[in-house]
Amino acid sequence: MSGNRTFTMLKPDAVEKGHIGAILQQITSSGFRIAALKLTQMTEDDAKTFYEIHKERPFYGELVEYMTRGPIVAAVLEKENAVEDFRSLIGATNPEDAAEGTIRKKFAASISENAIHGSDSDENAEIEAAFHFSGRDQF
Ligand code: PPS
Repeated sequence: MSGNRTFTMLKPDAVEKGHIGAILQQITSSGFRIAALKLTQMTEDDAKTFYEIHKERPFYGELVEYMTRGPIVAAVLEKENAVEDFRSLIGATNPEDAAEGTIRKKFAASISENAIHGSDSDENAEIEAAFHFSGRDQF
């Protein structure tokens, strides 16, 4: 990945509210190239594994339930300095703290339904992309 790729999920609330097009538009107009993309739904096992690092946190059960309740959009994105720039684009975890114009400020309802995920490191971007996409589905 060499620092140029990140992984994202448009979470069930964003999909339910019909925000896929607007969010992808903001992502691509901010300079990210879509290297992989799909509409999919996580199983309970998928979500538990994906968020395993947070399993001791009080919201873990709620997070798993939320992330499995409907389809998500998974994507791999490419841009120089992808992980950091994408975290800036999506804004703070809690939309109340997110900067104006960020994706969470515009589309997220609350900290527990915050519309979008962005990898927090190059290493996790690679792990998370491989969780959802095989090499032949990444371009
Ligand atoms: S982060 O993204 O790791 O910097 O943020 P963090 O605060 O560590 O949160 C980890 C993920 O848990 C989600 N989260 C929550 N879900 C439900 N309820 C509460 N209160 C809550 N707080 C944090 C947060 O959105 C992170 O998920 P991802 O998918 O990484 O954004």
